[in-house]
Amino acid sequence: MIIGKRVILRALEKEDIKNCWKWINDPEIIKGLYMIFPMSKYEEEKWYEKSIGDDRNKYFAVEVNKKHIGNIGLHGIDWINRKAELGIMIGEKDYLNKGYGTDAIKTIVRYAFNKMNLHKIQLRVYEFNKRALKCYEKCGFKEEGVMREELFRDGKYHNAVFMSILRSEFHEI
Ligand SMILES: CC(C)(COP(=O)(O)OP(=O)(O)OC[C@H]1O[C@@H](n2cnc3c(N)ncnc32)[C@H](O)[C@@H]1OP(=O)(O)O)[C@@H](O)C(=O)NCCC(=O)NCCS
Repeated sequence: MIIGKRVILRALEKEDIKNCWKWINDPEIIKGLYMIFPMSKYEEEKWYEKSIGDDRNKYFAVEVNKKHIGNIGLHGIDWINRKAELGIMIGEKDYLNKGYGTDAIKTIVRYAFNKMNLHKIQLRVYEFNKRALKCYEKCGFKEEGVMREELFRDGKYHNAVFMSILRSEFHEI
């Protein structure tokens, strides 16, 4: 387990899939994400099977007082250039906006730099996802650039912001 100040990150178990499936089909939770199609349980199970034992993707369950409230992961881990892309979803609505996302991100970033010996963590966030933007800024991520009109959602195009944090910057924080 990876221990944070307020959350614990643990391995994602097969039994967790039902929660993941519920969250990934909740329009309020996924409104800031790329996906738009409803996800079947079968697809979710396939995603889980594929991710197990894959060295390039590491997913964790986020727990608060033994309750599974969301997932966090590092995707596309590049072991040569020592970087990875961060993804996070706090799926239990009662736990949103209470600092758990911030703690989960700081915890995985610390783990990535101190234990996995990564050098850079990057991510992309759509410009309208103000809560996520604020959360990443609080964790020390800096804007690298903006990709114009990357996402079509609700009748218009939205920009994507690319952000990153380097190991040296995290240690400064
Ligand atoms: C993005 C996410 C991980 C953030 O985690 P969280 O636990 O909800 O957020 P936190 O409470 O840690 O921090 C949110 C911050 O944003 C602020 N915030 C919330 N809504 C905001 C808004 N509309 N505009 C600006 N700031 C906002 C909060 O006040 C808080 O800052 P503060 O601590 O200085 O007050 C979580 O909301 C989530 O998983 N959302 C659904 C999936 C998603 O969008 N994932 C990210 C994809 S890039």
